[in-house]
Amino acid sequence: MKAIVTGGAGFLGSHLVDRLLSEGYEVLVIDNLSTSTDKHLRAHFDDEKFKFINMDILDLDGLKREFSGFDLVLHFAANADIRHGLDDTWRDLEQNTIGTYNILEAMRVNDVKKILYASSAAVYGEPQTFPTPEDVALVQTSFYGASKLSGEALIQAFCEGFGFRGWMFRFVSVVGERHPHGVTFDFYHKLKNDPTRLEILGDGTSRKSYMYIDDCIDGIMLAYKNAKDKVNIFNLGWEEYMNVNKVADIITDELGLTDVKYEYTGGSRGWVGDSPLVHLSIEKLKALGWQPKVSSEEGIRRTVRWLRETGD
Ligand SMILES: NC(=O)c1ccc[n+]([C@@H]2O[C@H](COP(=O)([O-])OP(=O)(O)OC[C@H]3O[C@@H](n4cnc5c(N)ncnc54)[C@H](O)[C@@H]3O)[C@@H](O)[C@H]2O)c1
Repeated sequence: MKAIVTGGAGFLGSHLVDRLLSEGYEVLVIDNLSTSTDKHLRAHFDDEKFKFINMDILDLDGLKREFSGFDLVLHFAANADIRHGLDDTWRDLEQNTIGTYNILEAMRVNDVKKILYASSAAVYGEPQTFPTPEDVALVQTSFYGASKLSGEALIQAFCEGFGFRGWMFRFVSVVGERHPHGVTFDFYHKLKNDPTRLEILGDGTSRKSYMYIDDCIDGIMLAYKNAKDKVNIFNLGWEEYMNVNKVADIITDELGLTDVKYEYTGGSRGWVGDSPLVHLSIEKLKALGWQPKVSSEEGIRRTVRWLRETGD
């Protein structure tokens, strides 16, 4: 089997590359290294089953040239930072929605018909139902969420129109080795700069689930192998959730810090579009045999240990 991983130099993408190669796939990574480097891929540079091309997914002609002969695409390249949609209303649309269209169009002209897609829990906006199942009504509260949901919609249209099959994953916050952004990363770096105080966006009560990277990759691969519909949408998360104060407590404890002063920017949301509670139902994927194993707390602790060890 031959797979393309867009965003394969990034956090989730590079873990997927490791898994695919270990399962015998030939893997082509397409990444423009805009929020990453090639360091997580270097271990594979001498592997004849591995190839890396530095390319932007906005380069549709380039994508069309490279996609010939592949069986599936794992589309993980995106602007993954949810917070700045109001500063630049074009970026999420361009990077996430048009980027996804380009991937689908390059697949269509090369007769590649299977796509795995990194969506997000952000597509739920601020839902009324918890834990939130995949089939609730979706009302968008962020440009990022809107762009991810638009990507899902385009995939569905290509499935209907051109015989594609799609697997779409709505992730909660993922933590673990190579973690490059998000609350654990931010808190770690703030505390590294000043171990006496920690600025917390919002009022510390915002609650979210955190999923460990290996559980995330297991879930993606299990869904791909076992879900047989034309369009397959899955939540990937955890049964538990915790508030931001608890995340801060875990990180300060892991760093051995005491008497850190928490300073709040205020409000129940860290930014416009931030949901005060992210807690997804994971029953649909559990019914296929998936069970996350690493608790949110242990996932956060492993992330901090990795950040310390690598100096990232
Ligand atoms: N990490 C999470 O908690 C999380 C949660 C929900 C959804 N997601 C989604 O999962 C995917 C991967 O996220 P991540 O956390 O690994 O982020 P990441 O920033 O580590 O990885 C994204 C990769 O895509 C590449 N990229 C970005 N724009 C590109 C472009 N125009 N052309 C080519 N390459 C480009 C970057 O260089 C990077 O290597 C993203 O689609 C993100 O939206 C992540």
